[in-house]
Amino acid sequence: MKNTHLINHPLVQHKLTIMRDKNTGTKQFRELSKELSQLLGYEAMRHLTNSYMEIDTPLTKMSAPTLSGKKLALIPILRAGLVMSDAIADFVPHAKIGHIGLYRDPETHLPIEYYSKFPTELDLCEVFVLDPMLATGGSAIAALSILKEHGAKNIKFVCFLAAPEGIAKLHESHPDVDIYTAAIDEKLNENSYIVPGLGDAGDRIFGTK
Ligand code: URA
Repeated sequence: MKNTHLINHPLVQHKLTIMRDKNTGTKQFRELSKELSQLLGYEAMRHLTNSYMEIDTPLTKMSAPTLSGKKLALIPILRAGLVMSDAIADFVPHAKIGHIGLYRDPETHLPIEYYSKFPTELDLCEVFVLDPMLATGGSAIAALSILKEHGAKNIKFVCFLAAPEGIAKLHESHPDVDIYTAAIDEKLNENSYIVPGLGDAGDRIFGTK
């Protein structure tokens, strides 16, 4: 699918399989969520560029590559996205972290923003929106619209799992946003859960029900 990057590295797939298993407990699920987030984040940052700086190794001087260009902004969608921003920030500690909280209106079923706080100069940032599950696409689309209203221009969406329905809707509303996912599953069920999926990602990460 156009603009969708399926990260089918064997290590990623192995970790995802353990996470899908309903017998995997909270501790292991959380650990694997962090590891998977880092592997997906690494792929989503492949387009970043290097500039060169002079350094002294113990043996000689050299011109060595260093991250250059735009600032990085990690934007988890609350609450399941938090595990992803924590994990990715471990390897890009200079990244700024913003947050978006959305809930679904019980009558209209539309996502309503209840919290948002973003780094300054979002327009100058490479923005990574983080949510483990791209299901109907409702929250992702709303989050991307909110970020664009705040000036974000270069945005990528990173998730563990995506449903074809969510990918199609997201691309329709935000064709400029690339999606990075470890799997594209079969479908959504009548409760908008991804099938075969891994259940409720937030509940499995935080041990709630
Ligand atoms: N959110 C989840 O946590 N799981 C799904 O399957 C769909 C949305």
